[in-house]
Amino acid sequence: EWIKIAAPATTSNIGAGFDTFGLAIHEPYDIIEGRKIPSGIVISDIQGPGAESITRDPAKNSVTIAAAEVLKRAGADFGLEVKITKGIRPCSGIGSSGASAAGGAYLAHVLTGEKLSINEVIMCAAAAEGYTSGSIHADNVAPCILGGFTIIRSYEPFEVLKIDPPKDLGLVVALPDVLVATADARKVLPHEVPVKDLVFHVGHASSLVYAMMTDDLPLIGRSVADMVFEPARAPLVPHLKEAEKAAMNHGAIVSFLGGSGPCVMSFYDKSTHKGEVIAESVRKVFNDNNMKCDIWVTDCGT
Ligand code: HSE
Repeated sequence: EWIKIAAPATTSNIGAGFDTFGLAIHEPYDIIEGRKIPSGIVISDIQGPGAESITRDPAKNSVTIAAAEVLKRAGADFGLEVKITKGIRPCSGIGSSGASAAGGAYLAHVLTGEKLSINEVIMCAAAAEGYTSGSIHADNVAPCILGGFTIIRSYEPFEVLKIDPPKDLGLVVALPDVLVATADARKVLPHEVPVKDLVFHVGHASSLVYAMMTDDLPLIGRSVADMVFEPARAPLVPHLKEAEKAAMNHGAIVSFLGGSGPCVMSFYDKSTHKGEVIAESVRKVFNDNNMKCDIWVTDCGT
């Protein structure tokens, strides 16, 4: 019997919360299907955008690395066949590998009769992220599995908190036609951070949590800012600043680099603004510079 899991895209960092904050978004999403087989792990099909660039080697694919980890920890006495339909292009900055890892881990969790805690399932998915991006981070897999806005309080011991974001918080996701691999986007980061930037980040990160909890959309706008990571990565995404400025000029509350890029994210107030207007303004910036750009006007949260 086949089981089907939808694993949504997520945006991580969200201003000052590098490797800490994450947010589930409604679209796009991956579909991971799987069934028990007597032994071994096989990937029988991969479809969707970028499918040809994704390995079918179960020892190297995010879905099956994460699933294998769950099967091992749960003491499963069976193997797994999976089919993957990518809705989220790889190298996008909206948690493509994270969604695959989370979907694979959750699929195995269901097939093993949900023996692990949800935190353990998240850690299995994070281990797969470690393999594919070079560093274990759970800021995409946690919101993919839990939904909502998530905060990784600590990795050791692992603790994650979830908040439901404001219901009027809309999101425009713009994905320009450039590939940024997370591993490459981490190589450009500084190794040390000045105290003044640390103070800036703590203030903004704390305020963003408060704003999410109190449904304060203008405060979300003032709280999403990044002095360290986005500036280091901006050269990897042509026209990022112009795209952010266009979104702001067309009603976005705030616009920022999604995860490790190249995705450009724009929050807006659904009760007062139209996401499509913001979307068109961002698309125009990229199109005017001969770049294609995929857009989703979507909800965030569960
Ligand atoms: N927080 C990670 C990073 C996630 O920014 O490198 C990548 O999607």
